[in-house]
Amino acid sequence: MAVQQAIPKARAGIPGGFSGSAVRADFPIFENPTGTGKRLVYLDAAASSPKPRVVIDTMADAYAHHYANVHRGIYELSEDATARFEAARRKLAGFINAPSERECVFVRNATEAINLVAYSWGRTNVGEGDRVITTQLEHHANIVPWQQLCAEVGATLEYVAITDDGQLDRDDLAAKLEPRDGRPPRLLALAHVSNALGTINPVTELTRLAHDAGALVLVDAAQSAPHMPVDVQAFGCDFLALSGHKMLGPSGIGALWARRQLLEEMPPFLTGGSMIIRVTLEGAEWNEVPYKFEAGTPAIVEAIGLGAAIDYLTAIGMDRVREHEKYLFERAWAALSEIPGVRLLGPADPETHAGVISMLLDGVHPHDVATIFDHEGVAVRAGHHCAMPVMLRYDIPATTRASFYVYNDLDDVEALSSAVRAAQTVFGVGH
Ligand SMILES: Cc1ncc(COP(=O)(O)O)c(C=O)c1O
Repeated sequence: MAVQQAIPKARAGIPGGFSGSAVRADFPIFENPTGTGKRLVYLDAAASSPKPRVVIDTMADAYAHHYANVHRGIYELSEDATARFEAARRKLAGFINAPSERECVFVRNATEAINLVAYSWGRTNVGEGDRVITTQLEHHANIVPWQQLCAEVGATLEYVAITDDGQLDRDDLAAKLEPRDGRPPRLLALAHVSNALGTINPVTELTRLAHDAGALVLVDAAQSAPHMPVDVQAFGCDFLALSGHKMLGPSGIGALWARRQLLEEMPPFLTGGSMIIRVTLEGAEWNEVPYKFEAGTPAIVEAIGLGAAIDYLTAIGMDRVREHEKYLFERAWAALSEIPGVRLLGPADPETHAGVISMLLDGVHPHDVATIFDHEGVAVRAGHHCAMPVMLRYDIPATTRASFYVYNDLDDVEALSSAVRAAQTVFGVGH
């Protein structure tokens, strides 16, 4: 079966050049009726994105007609499955501009990618008295693995402070990058985009500062790879983590990119089948990269599905995706700013703010806000967004977060503003 590739048509005069409502036709989830009979306004891409039909069809087709285990069989079907799986790796490498697909390791998600680095590189390269630097705006996935590493080896974990408008405090970063007792920090681990505040960090510039200070750099691209161009060579970073399920692909597949030399030097993370070339009763010899880090049967069809998602995004163009979301962000920020009793978090400048808006409504708990939104057909996330240090920084328990993607449009921005007013009316606050 040939899987149809559906891509939004370019339209002149619209930022990004395409209409989100036209894109919605590619996503079967929008055909579902909501409990209230209202149109689904999905504003939770930052948690996980819906899947276009082409991803679902590609995966069904792979299971139905091209499925066997990979890298093992010497029969046609297995070679076919292997070719499709490895083609997905090449697509991923192209998507992030990796110098080679051999530097792209398939893992389950960004969390596993960061843990791989913390266990394999970290346990080998970070020792007693060393320092690892992360930031206060990270997702827990980019905090807890470093807390565990530092506790285990006797290193110190330091957090770059954030400003009132959710940007990294550059003076604090500069101070933390200074050597201590003649020793530079070992690693700067930071998000490209904050999932809780929407802040876009200037990773190319920050990577240069960290390298000048003698530290390696891990970029958590879980919230950026789906929404804007990500280029590991332009960033100059050493490691980059992403999750497939946030970028129109299936869950259960993600990737770690790392510089080839680092991957060659790092010991395996998980061990067992596939990651070896020879096993004797005395020991084992590791397979070449990236297979050294892919123990056991991988998520074969999920990788193929991710490849289809990458094709879909590439057909739109990541610059256009970013333009589209920037436009929606600007309009939403302006509309919400006009509503009394609404507090918006993160930078106001659309150049440094992705399509994620975290808000607080005076007098209403974020969970109650999200419940009223749901009655209006508007799906958002409420809570700490796995970024509790951000909540502590602003002394708030939670926020209500709306996040945009390719299938959103100005009608969704309108629905969001109306939902805010509806919540205020129900709770007798605000306007
Ligand atoms: C910035 C950031 N990093 C890491 C993660 C973890 O992603 P996953 O749960 O797919 O591993 C998330 C998930 O929301 C995130 O927003």
